Amino acid sequence: MSSNLSFKASSELNSCAVPTAQTEMLIGLMSRMSIEEKIGQMSQFFGHGEHISEHLADSIRHGRVGSVLNEVKLHTVNELQRLAVEESRLGIPLLIGRDVIHGFNTIFPIPLGQAASWCAETVKQCAHISALEAATSGVNWTFAPMIDISRDPRWGRIAESLGEDPYLCSVLGVAMLEGFQGDELHKNGSIAACAKHFAGYGAGESGRDYSTTNIPENELRNVYLPPFKAVADAGVATFMSAFSDLNGVPATGNKWLMTEILREEWQYSGFVVSDWESIVQLTTHGFSKDNKDAAYEAVDAGIDMEMVSTTYLDHLPDLLAEGRIDIQQINTAVKKILQLKWQLGLFDSPYTDASLLPEPLNAEHLQIAKDAAIKSCVLLKNEQNILPLAAEKLNSVAVIGPLADDPYEQLGTWIFDGDSQHSQTCLTAIEKLLSGKASLNHVKAMETSRSHDQADFKHAVATAATADVAIMILGEESILSGEAHCRAEIGLPGCQEQLIDAIAKTGTPIVLVIMAGRPLTIEAILPKVDAVLFAWHPGTMGGPAIADLLFGNACPSGKLPVTFPRKVGQVPIYYGQKHSGKPATEASYVHMDDIPVHSPQTSLGMAATHLDTHFSPLFPFGFGLSYTQFSYQNIELSHKTLRAGETLRVRVLLTNTGETDGEEITQLYIRDLVGSVTRPVKELKDFKRVKLAAGKSEWVTFELSTHKLAFYDRNMQIKTEAGQFHLWLGGCSQTGLHGEFEIADD
Ligand code: NOJ
Repeated sequence: MSSNLSFKASSELNSCAVPTAQTEMLIGLMSRMSIEEKIGQMSQFFGHGEHISEHLADSIRHGRVGSVLNEVKLHTVNELQRLAVEESRLGIPLLIGRDVIHGFNTIFPIPLGQAASWCAETVKQCAHISALEAATSGVNWTFAPMIDISRDPRWGRIAESLGEDPYLCSVLGVAMLEGFQGDELHKNGSIAACAKHFAGYGAGESGRDYSTTNIPENELRNVYLPPFKAVADAGVATFMSAFSDLNGVPATGNKWLMTEILREEWQYSGFVVSDWESIVQLTTHGFSKDNKDAAYEAVDAGIDMEMVSTTYLDHLPDLLAEGRIDIQQINTAVKKILQLKWQLGLFDSPYTDASLLPEPLNAEHLQIAKDAAIKSCVLLKNEQNILPLAAEKLNSVAVIGPLADDPYEQLGTWIFDGDSQHSQTCLTAIEKLLSGKASLNHVKAMETSRSHDQADFKHAVATAATADVAIMILGEESILSGEAHCRAEIGLPGCQEQLIDAIAKTGTPIVLVIMAGRPLTIEAILPKVDAVLFAWHPGTMGGPAIADLLFGNACPSGKLPVTFPRKVGQVPIYYGQKHSGKPATEASYVHMDDIPVHSPQTSLGMAATHLDTHFSPLFPFGFGLSYTQFSYQNIELSHKTLRAGETLRVRVLLTNTGETDGEEITQLYIRDLVGSVTRPVKELKDFKRVKLAAGKSEWVTFELSTHKLAFYDRNMQIKTEAGQFHLWLGGCSQTGLHGEFEIADD
């Protein structure tokens, strides 16, 4: 059977000069399908768990179902496939969809945490294991990667994203896709991926989920679309349309996006599924007058499969009969859907034999989950190198906080199939590490991360007061991020800040571990604690990963994939902002407390900033500390001037100047000084994770092709423009050795 990942060779079934087995079979099959059966392939139903409803069974028998989502009991899934293959007229197997977002049984760090690893190999491994485990339940299609650029930490779905940067998100999105789909889709354990949510969903007004997005085309093309283009080029099997309204046209009815850009410009030949009932919502948006009109708009835009709602089943036959849509539109959609089923090998083997796949949650999967969590934690503060803690020098440790021993909350959002009974918590992992060394006392202090009840504070304070160190494990419960779970304030919820105040008064040093689904505004608490390790929601193995980091069995290496604001009012704040005509500088910046009374308005400030907070972020993109130090020296550029099409070779000498072995993420940023449209102050163009033993040096080399400097200009043409460029190599978006080069006019 031919099951090449690329759809391109066979996307136009009828136009192949020499039909392959696949095209012959699909042409034959399609010629036998009734219109209703074709529309059935374009319809996705949802399952209800173990019991298959009579409605679903009957719909499958009558060829009205192309895919089922949220059905993951193996015997149920195999029974669904049996109904499709043996009891429907044409015997077409089903796509079985599920949100496998950051793990199936073994839960890995949330995607934003994985992005903090800046490690494509890690992201790929996590997705590969997720696919293997999901496949044991008969799942053959995941709705991931989510590659929405996310620059608003109020948005709950930032947790599911790969952060704020188009380049990082593209590289890691492709890695995740490769992990899910493997090298061949038909292999046992490969599942189809889905790039979502096309497009702009992360830019909702004030970080509210599902809300309106207004993104100028130039920004859409330069910032929001590149990750989608990257995964389309890398062979992602499907796309999902966004719920949101993009510049007045909801994505699910947006023909410009779905057809002109995706199919015509990018030549993408996989299929597009709507989001959950997003076709019906075209009416709610006020874009279609009723469900029939919505079905028309969606099909005409290029939505090939409808998720959950039934406007296609209900209205496409009439729309065809009325001549509003034509059969070619239906055929095109059905071909692509059948093609994916073929590529997954479902026509040959629709049933799943879980014994052919590795056991979920096996030791190797757990080890990879632990390594991923270690790589994803970001050390934000480490006053006087309080970390790593030396277990043998401690007599007594206090572990305080509602998230220290909560197996569920460390898993994060979107964990349908993860069972918290497999989680290893911080408390148990620290206990294990300290056993026989120091004594350990645990006080939860708050019932949940949101509670306001301070009744147990006294107990926590008394425990901390007699300890050598207080490890506080705070943050957000899982439910505070994810779909529809947005926040207007993004500080530590409940009375956690008061808890920190109370513990700080004891004088016992505080090591703060934060688990959260988003960046939090923690400026006010930073001076009160000695160290901060930001662990996101780290997954099943979060506890042992964090314990190893705290006690020096592992060295922190994660870097922020998203900027941390000082105050929520700074949002959106991201490193790649435009310069503006009046950029804020230390010289121009003035705080409102320092303005003399009755000052004339124009005498102070006059820069793109706020009066009540510094213009810089709390922690910039790319930032993260280590237990060792890295120095950058001797930056070298191969050219001072080069022509479009050539490649700049740039290298820097990286040295681990500390006493601990560690890993550094070397980042390459550029600035295009003058553009036909204004350019960001910095743009990430490459990065490398480098492992260096204490005292060792290594040249870190990058090949920067001028193609990577291209951007969409005023006429929406992608070009590398001639001119001056600045370049930085370093360990963060705000530091680094500086170089300059020029691209000459042709
Ligand atoms: C709605 C979400 O927006 C989408 O990301 C998800 O894949 C579907 N529901 C299916 O659960």
